Amino acid sequence: MWFASGNRDEEVFGDPYAFDVARRGNDHLTFGKGGPHVCLGNQLARTEIRVLFEELIPRLADVRLAGEVLRVRSNFVNGVKRLPVTVTLA
Ligand code: HEM
Repeated sequence: MWFASGNRDEEVFGDPYAFDVARRGNDHLTFGKGGPHVCLGNQLARTEIRVLFEELIPRLADVRLAGEVLRVRSNFVNGVKRLPVTVTLA
């Protein structure tokens, strides 16, 4: 199972390679597709990510890329290993 590929299925997503946080009808496979092995921590993970951005965004005036982005080598998770940024506080 290659979740990252499924999340870019052009038959499911219009413009599947666009980073679009406002995407609606977002039938993604990030936590699996239901069934017996769906991610047991998905509600915790969603809450952690929501709280992270709720707390972080009001504190930041600006974030800019400041170096090379390194991705995780994995067929399981399409993740970022290193993302150097320059931050200006609000
Ligand atoms: C953004 C964070 C996370 C992502 C993207 C993620 C993704 C996944 C994926 C793709 C699976 C496999 C689903 C399948 O085979 O259908 C999985 C399984 C699982 N995840 Fe997560 N996960 C995350 C966070 C967590 C957290 C925070 C926990 C626990 C606190 C957790 C616990 C588990 C467990 C126990 C399974 C195995 C379920 C089983 O096979 O019965 N995950 N996760």
